[in-house]
Amino acid sequence: GDNVLYLCHRYEVDLEGACEASLACSTCHVYVDDEYFDMLPEALEEEEDMLDLAVFLKDNSRLGCQII
Ligand code: FES
Repeated sequence: GDNVLYLCHRYEVDLEGACEASLACSTCHVYVDDEYFDMLPEALEEEEDMLDLAVFLKDNSRLGCQII
């Protein structure tokens, strides 16, 4: 699917995504502009668990591979 991680790769934006969107890493961590954050469906528990491992976690943190 066209999640934010894959879009970044397609347009050569440097976002890692070590686990290829299988919710087993936090290397696709992104910050979502406040304007858009509330428009996203809430993170699954699995995403929250991985986000807890991300560095520089903020209120608007999400995993890029989970944003569709
Ligand atoms: Fe690993 Fe997104 S690429 S959780």
